[in-house]
Amino acid sequence: LNYCVPRTRKEIFETLVKGLRRLEYRGYDSAGIAVDGNKKTTTEDNSNIVLIKKKGKVKALDEELYKKDCMDLEVELDTHFGIAHTRWATHGEPSALNSHPQRSDKNNEFVVIHNGIITNYKELKKYLISKGYEFESETDTEVIPKLIKYVYDNRERDDLSFSTLVERVIQQLEGAFALVFKSHYFPGEAVATRRGSPLLIGVRSKYELSAEHIPIQYNSGLFKEGVQDKNSHNRPDKPNNSTAVNSAGDDKAVEYYFASDASAIIEHTNKVIYLEDDDIAAVVGGKLSLHRLNSLAGEDSVRAIQTLQMELQEIMKGNFEAFMQKEIFEQPESVFNTMRGRICFHTNKVILGGLKDHLKEIKRCRRLIMIGCGTSFHATVATRQILEELTELPVMVELASDFLDRNTPVFRDDVCFYISQSGETADTLMALRYCKDRGALTVGVTNTVGSSISRDTDCGVHINAGPEIGVASTKAYTSQFVALIMFGLMMSEDRISLQPRRLEIINGLRILPDMIKKVLTLDNKIKSIADELYQQKSLLVMGRGFNYATCLEGALKIKEITYMHSEGILAGELKHGPLALIDKHMPVIMIIMKDACYTKCQNALQQVTARSGRPIILCCQDDQEMSENAYKTIELPHTVDCLQGILSVIPLQLLSFHLAVLRGYDVDCPRNLAKSVTVE
Ligand code: G6P
Repeated sequence: LNYCVPRTRKEIFETLVKGLRRLEYRGYDSAGIAVDGNKKTTTEDNSNIVLIKKKGKVKALDEELYKKDCMDLEVELDTHFGIAHTRWATHGEPSALNSHPQRSDKNNEFVVIHNGIITNYKELKKYLISKGYEFESETDTEVIPKLIKYVYDNRERDDLSFSTLVERVIQQLEGAFALVFKSHYFPGEAVATRRGSPLLIGVRSKYELSAEHIPIQYNSGLFKEGVQDKNSHNRPDKPNNSTAVNSAGDDKAVEYYFASDASAIIEHTNKVIYLEDDDIAAVVGGKLSLHRLNSLAGEDSVRAIQTLQMELQEIMKGNFEAFMQKEIFEQPESVFNTMRGRICFHTNKVILGGLKDHLKEIKRCRRLIMIGCGTSFHATVATRQILEELTELPVMVELASDFLDRNTPVFRDDVCFYISQSGETADTLMALRYCKDRGALTVGVTNTVGSSISRDTDCGVHINAGPEIGVASTKAYTSQFVALIMFGLMMSEDRISLQPRRLEIINGLRILPDMIKKVLTLDNKIKSIADELYQQKSLLVMGRGFNYATCLEGALKIKEITYMHSEGILAGELKHGPLALIDKHMPVIMIIMKDACYTKCQNALQQVTARSGRPIILCCQDDQEMSENAYKTIELPHTVDCLQGILSVIPLQLLSFHLAVLRGYDVDCPRNLAKSVTVE
């Protein structure tokens, strides 16, 4: 919008497509774009908005854009507003028709992109059909453009602003949404809003930004009838005190970028405004204004313009074949960054700045409840035992969806942790709201500054692993693991009896990055194991104690990106069922480390070899006994029992990566999955 310098249409396409590529991890089964066509748009014309949509990845859309002869690529535009979307199907199969933008009618009078789910779409659709509107897709989203057209067609006056129309629409919506609207009736204007799904605005200015905050205009009363604004193109209800963020009064000095995630816009600007639920942002005449649907007493009256620290280079693949591979190899640095400035190796103090003010309250609690999904849940399983030991509190670990399904009793003196790489996972976010309503203290453990979970919790820890792009989570897991252990260390600082144990763990953490480097040198060996296994249908991963979580996480990695069937099995449960699967053909990986479970694991190994099983064993270096009993061994450096899981998961991350490559799959974008699942 309002380019700092005029842009050609080609550059506009490139900006939108690049943004989508960076967001592709959120979904990639279809993509679409809406831009203004060649003709100058006036309200008298038939709509000039051009929609281009394509099934498949963003690449397919990109190719399609240049096939349209209605688009003059070299034409220079001073002001332009384009929208684009990459979809992860919830309602309706992946197809061009079901992809976004969705439209109001064949003329594309209103077009909308949506992230989230509209739960009352069936009722709305029925109503709109009864009013004569025809639907073309199977999506929940399509009710939104139809509804705004309905509101527009039935408006009581001609001078309603675009944002007032949007405000009326979202009053009717239930569910979760981040929405951006474009309309033929409001050329060059943008309106965006959210509830439950994240949305931010990037601000790029030719000049130094003069404002640090954007004031919010409370309640829709501001969009009053009859308030004349000389500059408002005779639209009386246009917000008359919209805010320019440049001091030069130069309308062409600012560009605004709306996105679900900062990675989409970081190459253009690091200045962002995070919108809150029910905020409505409008850009009219090159100026941004914010207002709220429902204002509550005591709410912030401004939204800050924040400066992000993220570097573009952090979200580039570099020399690696895939983001996932890059992220596996980043783990020596990412776990170091999780600890940086938080552990003092001289005094053995651990300080997590985001928690220290709440420590007393946490120590007094009835129990700790750890909640997450997927890999983040596995990080809670991995650290539960050591947290119980160090905090001397009962620790519950919960899959967010199941926790909610059970209506789990939660009390005011519970402390609930939400572990989430993205900080946006809908199930985890719902569990957070559930516990907040019941008065529990809420703690976020996320990797995304400004994410919904980090903002909605009372306090928290940022794991500082750096952006994770590969859908299969790797470095976030090991950093979550380390962050939770640091929490345990912080809680046990004044327990005299626990000091030797604390010291042992802190020393283990100190050399952890070097140990991870050693594990990464096993890559070639693991590749050769993958060469042997990649045509198999199934792969079992077995272990117990501190390494059980590694089995769950390893099996999840294998499932996610290789599409092989894989199961993480608790070795203690072997004889209660899984043993029936074992024969000489079933590939099985066993994790047997020198810890308190060593003897019990050896028993499991005997049970497997006695059934002609041929286990590949992940064991400690120079464990003679294991080498004698294994079909193959992968030898790992030995560390403190509760940290061993950080080392034992890495060979399985690498194995899943190599298996997926050998099977010819796209490692970073596995079928049917999304990195951040923002729907329930
Ligand atoms: C999705 C991803 C998983 C991830 C899970 C939780 O299912 O595909 O890799 O572990 O969500 O994500 P979160 O961002 O909450 O850690």
